[in-house]
Amino acid sequence: MKMQRRAALALALLATPFALQAAEPVKIGFLVKQAEEPWFQDEWRYAEQAAKDKGFTLVKIGIPNGEKMMAAIDNLAAQKAVGFVICAPDVKLGVAVNRAAKRHNLKVMSVDDQLVDGAGKPIADIPHMGISGYEIGKQVGQGLLAEMKARGWKLDEVGVLRVAFDQLPTARDRTMGAVDALKAAGVPAANVVDAPQAKTDTESAFNAANIAFTKNAKFKRWVAFGLNDEAALGAVRAAEGRGIKQDAMLAIGIGGSQTALNEFTKPTPTAFYGTVLISPKRHGYETATAVFEWATAGKTPPPVTLTSGILMTRQNQAELRKQMGL
Ligand code: GLA
Repeated sequence: MKMQRRAALALALLATPFALQAAEPVKIGFLVKQAEEPWFQDEWRYAEQAAKDKGFTLVKIGIPNGEKMMAAIDNLAAQKAVGFVICAPDVKLGVAVNRAAKRHNLKVMSVDDQLVDGAGKPIADIPHMGISGYEIGKQVGQGLLAEMKARGWKLDEVGVLRVAFDQLPTARDRTMGAVDALKAAGVPAANVVDAPQAKTDTESAFNAANIAFTKNAKFKRWVAFGLNDEAALGAVRAAEGRGIKQDAMLAIGIGGSQTALNEFTKPTPTAFYGTVLISPKRHGYETATAVFEWATAGKTPPPVTLTSGILMTRQNQAELRKQMGL
């Protein structure tokens, strides 16, 4: 009797860990630098979709600074997650991210902002999915040129406001792509005004643009752009504050999430003329799936995947978003 009970107990003890393991779903983290930004909300939404389709649990954490980022990675490890997708608050934290992931045996992939090492070189063993920044920037420039032409603006009379965040390589690539497209078409280099923003949100862009407009009051017409929709929108709001409205100002953003849609659905068009629509669906769904398959099936993601974009305006927004499955 006693023996039997003991044997049963031993069996139960042996069986428990397996039973627990089977019951616990695989966990994948999705860490983003700016959780309040519509782009990142969209990424999370599509990553959730992947979690539902593939059968894993998504752990979403906002990481506005390095300290919160490190705590989030430790937290994921404590929850027994198997890997995570990350858009870090600063790409120079790359080495720290890589080290923490290795220490906890977590798979890591970056999204949007590619992580770099101490020398500023991309970290080769962290797979990345982001946009082709320079090409998309060129599309911004070309979109502005086409509309300037349609309006009969003289290229040498137009101020070019580059809302800049040059410490982030993709931000620099995007805005320089736009500058190069404008210059190639004949916009004088001297007309380009840099407005460095402290953060990548609308408020910082607004402040940066205000200073630039004050210093360059000689331009009566402006085109503006930055790394995302928030940057372009900040410039538009700053211009409005000075009485520069949509007949004298054109801005094109990058993104196509709610920030842009809000502008397009206002009854009267603003100077926010368009945006290059990129895919939060691909970035959210595909990265979360890639980390899941990497951790559970040993399928290593491709080292770098660059996604493309397409110019979206008030006119074609509904149609385009439908086409891209958004
Ligand atoms: C960067 C920007 C975001 C968004 C993504 C898209 O992370 O900060 O606003 O544009 O790139 O890849």
